[in-house]
Amino acid sequence: MECKDVGILAMDMYFPPTCVQQEALEVHDGASKGKYTIGLGQDCMAFCSEVEDVISMSLTVVKSLLEKYHIDPKLIGRLEVGSETVIDKSKSIKTWLMQIFEESGNTDIEGVDSSNACYGGTAALLNCVNWVESRCWDGRYGLVVCTDSAVYAEGPARPTGGAAAIAMLIGPNAPISFESKYRASHMAHVYDFYKPDLASEYPVVDGKLSQTCYLMALDSCYRQYCAKYEKLVGEKFSISDADYCVFHSPYNKLVQKSFARLYFNDFMRNCSSVDNDAKEKLQPFANLTSEESYQSRDLEKGSQQLAKHLYDIKVQPSTLLPKQIGNMYTASLYAALASVIYNKHASLSGQRIVMFSYGSGLTSTMFSFKLNEGQHPFSLTNIASVLDVTAKLESRHVES
Ligand SMILES: CC(C)(COP(=O)(O)OP(=O)(O)OC[C@H]1O[C@@H](n2cnc3c(N)ncnc32)[C@H](O)[C@@H]1OP(=O)(O)O)[C@@H](O)C(=O)NCCC(=O)NCCS
Repeated sequence: MECKDVGILAMDMYFPPTCVQQEALEVHDGASKGKYTIGLGQDCMAFCSEVEDVISMSLTVVKSLLEKYHIDPKLIGRLEVGSETVIDKSKSIKTWLMQIFEESGNTDIEGVDSSNACYGGTAALLNCVNWVESRCWDGRYGLVVCTDSAVYAEGPARPTGGAAAIAMLIGPNAPISFESKYRASHMAHVYDFYKPDLASEYPVVDGKLSQTCYLMALDSCYRQYCAKYEKLVGEKFSISDADYCVFHSPYNKLVQKSFARLYFNDFMRNCSSVDNDAKEKLQPFANLTSEESYQSRDLEKGSQQLAKHLYDIKVQPSTLLPKQIGNMYTASLYAALASVIYNKHASLSGQRIVMFSYGSGLTSTMFSFKLNEGQHPFSLTNIASVLDVTAKLESRHVES
């Protein structure tokens, strides 16, 4: 069986039709004007009303993907779910989704749920890709579902909630295919965000620590990704080699900081992606220890300004859905990817998208996709049309 270019063949996304404007939330919470919209970089926050949850959202998105791409449910051989919204301590969300497949007589489907904060969707995706590339593959499709409802206790983290479910069909000859050889992970034991109270849907979160952990994990993954690339390709890797950088997006400000951090990494590695003027401006920070560099406000602000022209090209197209919906935990990274596909599908052929997945606790992986237009129904054009982002966003009901 031919097994080339394994990756994402098709995508669909569901998010609740109910949302609040971050501007209105600022007023309601008595926060200063601009704190959530400029300070966190968020526009809107989606939330589940009492009639839906992570299971109903995932049932909806799986049914919708199968219907819109005309996939016979019997053709799914592996189904993996990523989620950190625990509904049951034993019964997986995957088993609820089996209702769709039982109807068509297909119970021969491997896979269960993966969970570690926002990383579970990436674990599910890697499992499916590995299955398709393995000797156990039976020629059928893999299906990955990321589904979460992010709800925080009252306080500064509350405006960083959100909710959505994303489904991705996995197989060979994909328009969004993995460059498997360069992927790099960073995993460690930290208490930056966790859910020790099983009766509560709220996490315990140390927001500032989670931000530093995220940036440390990003540095580590990027360094290893570059080293692996350079060993195999024999050329230096820099952000110039990535057409788009897509980050896990708990709130947009962290994405801005993350891209600036990659830019600073390129400066430290003396890459040509950083021009001479920027090199001069970053020179005063060259001798900081890495710990000092995470704490330096001047470096954070300066590198964000210097990287802004590249951020607008390489990152901004990925921010549409995360800014409009909020943190979708496992679905956030893939909603950012969906935003790039939706916004840029006509010009993506031959391009590379670098992805950074982060889940507190902590687990993280950097990997990349190569894109090609593909063939209908598994084409970038069709994926963009199924995603139908603008119409879905516009039809939402804004609650006061
Ligand atoms: C992100 C988080 C720490 C922010 O908490 P906070 O106490 O509001 O933090 P701050 O007071 O520093 O404000 C946040 C930003 O808004 C800015 N800000 C505050 N008021 C502002 C205003 N009126 N106008 C514009 N910007 C404003 C601050 O300067 C800061 O920006 P900076 O990060 O660029 O310095 C909090 O929302 C949180 O814990 N969220 C969840 C964390 C999370 O998702 N972790 C998982 C990561 S994977």
